[in-house]
Amino acid sequence: MISNRAKLISPSETLKISARAKQLAREGVSIISLSAGEPDFKTPPHICNAAIEAITAGFHGYTMNTGLPELREAISTKLLRDNRIKIAPDQIVLSNGAKQSIGFSILATVNKGDEVVIPAPYWVSYPEMVKMAEGTPVIVKTHFENDYKLTPGQLDAALNEKTKAIILCTPSNPTGACYSRRELKDLADVLDKYPDVIIFSDEIYEYIVFDGEHESILNAAPHLIDRTVIINGFSKGFAMTGWRLGYMAGPKVIADAVAKIQSQETSAPSTISQKAGLAACTGTMKPVDEMREAFRERRDFLVKELRAMKGIKCFTPQGAFYVFPDVSSFLGKKTDTGELISTTTDLSLYLLEQHGIATVPGDAFGEPSGIRLSYANSMDDLKEAVNRLKDGLSSLM
Ligand SMILES: Cc1ncc(COP(=O)(O)O)c(C=O)c1O
Repeated sequence: MISNRAKLISPSETLKISARAKQLAREGVSIISLSAGEPDFKTPPHICNAAIEAITAGFHGYTMNTGLPELREAISTKLLRDNRIKIAPDQIVLSNGAKQSIGFSILATVNKGDEVVIPAPYWVSYPEMVKMAEGTPVIVKTHFENDYKLTPGQLDAALNEKTKAIILCTPSNPTGACYSRRELKDLADVLDKYPDVIIFSDEIYEYIVFDGEHESILNAAPHLIDRTVIINGFSKGFAMTGWRLGYMAGPKVIADAVAKIQSQETSAPSTISQKAGLAACTGTMKPVDEMREAFRERRDFLVKELRAMKGIKCFTPQGAFYVFPDVSSFLGKKTDTGELISTTTDLSLYLLEQHGIATVPGDAFGEPSGIRLSYANSMDDLKEAVNRLKDGLSSLM
């Protein structure tokens, strides 16, 4: 009954673990979640009010398939204001979240058998989206020593005449690492040798950068504008995950192809969310700055604590709200009931079931040495999580 396409893909691993954590919590078990992929803050009031106004004014019919013209205009202005990148409103397509924008951009460009280079650890959906488009994900393993960032040499080795695209994510989910302008320029130099390769640049965490400014590959190499698709959205920076609003901004031919697919699959995102997005784009950035400062305080706390734990290696992430410590020294150990921990999935399940902390195993992101800890949680919870983590890890033998 089920298509080969559907059989080919795996369900989202991160959603699976959070579902189990939620189930345990419903059963009354005390669970601290370090697995969340969403800010624990409320959407800022001026954004909520814009949505309320849209509802009360009766502004809730369909919008154009590509989104409200004034929101596309506002995103174009924001790209110039915040990113110094010039992309016209008719090259922007609003969607029900960055996830949809990446999926449709891949569907719009990747043919059967085309290779798409994905540095690992990667955001869980990239390889599955490429497979759904009948492309071939080419996973490139990066290394802890380089904060899991792709090097020019690794990129050069992965590219060939079958490569259709590369997916970059900065700041990164799951590692929180950010590429510097220099690093992006070095990658761009390699891409110059392959003029037909498309660059998907996922910048959904751009407003959560702690040290210096967010850098896009288009800041490092503006000449790549004709083959770069920026993916972004409102979920992370504005704490708007459930509003489902994202966008792609890129070459007009790709935007038009994405719009065509979207017109047959989903049409435009919720009109009310788009009005909220307009307020986010054009309104005060104070709440965004405050959320970033709260994340910074938590990052500093968590990294310090993790570094003090025996057996853990951890670099300081410069963005997003994740740390991705190397926990490989615990693999091969046993729990006090004699169960072998051979993978990070075993480790995450053990921490969840026996110590009440939800994490996401690196296996889900294609990196078997790490686990992802999200600090989108209160300081009190983080302190308790650190205690539980210490207990859990130190009792492995
Ligand atoms: C790297 C990355 N890209 C895209 C998304 C999807 O975001 P959205 O909520 O806008 O669909 C996420 C969400 O977890 C993410 O971490």
